Amino acid sequence: MGWVLVQDRVSIGFVCLFMMLWSVGGIGVNWGTQSTHRLPPGTIVRLLRDNGFQRVKLFDAEYDTLKALGNTGIEVMVGIPNDMLATVGGNMKAAEKWVAKNVTQHITSNNVNIRYVAVGNEPFLETYNGSYLGITFPALRNIQAALVKAGHNNQVKVTVPLNADVYSSSSELPSDGDFRADIHEVMLTIVNFLSVSAAPFTVNIYPFISLYADPNFPVEYAFFDGNASPINDGGVSYTNMFDANLDTLAHALQKNGFADLPIIVGEIGWPTDGDRNANIEYARRFNQGFMSHISGGRGTPMRPGPIDAYLFSLIDEDAKSIAPGNFERHWGIFTYDGLPKYPLNLGTTNSGALVRANGVQYLQKKWCVMKPSARLDDPSIAPSVNYACSSADCTSLGYGSSCGNLDSRGNISYAFNSYFQQNNQLDEACKFPNVSMITKTDPTPTVGNCRFNIMIQPYYGFGYAQKPSGLISFLLLILVLVL
Ligand SMILES: *[C@@H]1O[C@H](CO)[C@@H](O)[C@H](O)[C@H]1NC(C)=O
Ligand SMILES: *[C@@H]1O[C@H](CO)[C@@H](O)[C@H](O)[C@H]1NC(C)=O
Ligand SMILES: *[C@@H]1O[C@H](CO)[C@@H](O)[C@H](O)[C@H]1NC(C)=O
Ligand SMILES: *[C@@H]1O[C@H](CO)[C@@H](O)[C@H](O)[C@H]1NC(C)=O
Repeated sequence: MGWVLVQDRVSIGFVCLFMMLWSVGGIGVNWGTQSTHRLPPGTIVRLLRDNGFQRVKLFDAEYDTLKALGNTGIEVMVGIPNDMLATVGGNMKAAEKWVAKNVTQHITSNNVNIRYVAVGNEPFLETYNGSYLGITFPALRNIQAALVKAGHNNQVKVTVPLNADVYSSSSELPSDGDFRADIHEVMLTIVNFLSVSAAPFTVNIYPFISLYADPNFPVEYAFFDGNASPINDGGVSYTNMFDANLDTLAHALQKNGFADLPIIVGEIGWPTDGDRNANIEYARRFNQGFMSHISGGRGTPMRPGPIDAYLFSLIDEDAKSIAPGNFERHWGIFTYDGLPKYPLNLGTTNSGALVRANGVQYLQKKWCVMKPSARLDDPSIAPSVNYACSSADCTSLGYGSSCGNLDSRGNISYAFNSYFQQNNQLDEACKFPNVSMITKTDPTPTVGNCRFNIMIQPYYGFGYAQKPSGLISFLLLILVLVL
């Protein structure tokens, strides 16, 4: 025990020094790539720089993405997807290869400022049924050993981005926080390993999800305006969920002997569409409120001082699974084509305003819509809309969403257009039997936030090809309807 205590003190001292040297300040951002059409990495890196982001978090380690970040000085967290945990956790050689290819090569040849490796992404989510429970720690251990062996351990730290559902409070008070009972042991193993490795705990915190999941959740408590009725925890007053949630983790760590383990907020943000609480107004209020809340290094009652956080996320991703909800494709502070959705002062640029992506290449100015002559009771409408929406993105059409007020014709046109754009405006993708046509008149309504998109040019990157998904089954659909 004595050794552990000394060891802990040494690492705590080192961790504090490390965090002071490492925290260059400024907000970070998550850059996800689950889109049917991606902006080229060079365009995104310019977007990051123009907006003053000094830190970026990735979910994998794609070559082109990392190369584009070379020579920028931007601090990078690279990621190991959950489906690779078994490989790197089961085999030391695989972990060494991963580090050689996805860390060493980029540091030495491309001058990428890699600072963290995220081992897995929320691997203990209850929806994964424990699939990654046994393999996350071995992966963490192997990657850390590979980083040490390659001589990166002073520059590159390991961490495991975890959802805030890995801990909870037995009451509503942060001071009753502890790790989830079913994963308590593995959490302590991981936390101890992070502590000994002078590495941080990374947590994703989502007040929006609490509001989405619980209609009785007090709305004001999700935001930072201090309007919620406070929760009194032994004299400490909490008026927003973020502080209470982060401090629940801080208490859980303290209770288990890790009071000083640094905490990084790996994801925080608010979506703009796909739910009645997902809109521009709330997203701006939350993100701006968060920026003001952490500015000046105030921190939380348990963790006063600067907070390292990564906004979720940079840009919308239209190919994300909507199993969690329709909002899932709308977390960006920028649209899919790099336009700011709302004014947001990140405190990083002189103007205090978001800067749009530069030089974005669009497809032609044309849309696919429902033919004016087509009848709403045409029997091919329903299967056509279902087909279009099963592959394209109709998440803005639901109740309370940006295009939720379209009339039936507008609604049908939106679905057709989404499919047409996703398939790079191919003529064949606007041949819903007798009910669709291509137009050069923008069908976007003049009022409201509903937008009939024009897709961006596909990016054919290294090892990446955009295929017109589902076009063959679309042709089959036409055949079935015609016969
Ligand atoms: C490096 O990362 C990429 C992207 O995540 C992955 O596909 C690849 O398998 C990794 N390389 C090695 C050698 O593990
Ligand atoms: C988890 O279990 C449920 C119920 O047994 C199942 O429906 C679901 O597909 C499982 N999810 C995963 C990721 O294995
Ligand atoms: C529009 O489409 C969505 C999704 O297909 C559907 O849920 C909604 O009821 C439709 N609304 C109208 C007015 O047709
Ligand atoms: C489309 O319209 C043509 C001519 O009006 C008609 O002959 C054909 O049966 C229609 N096809 C479908 C699938 O409704």
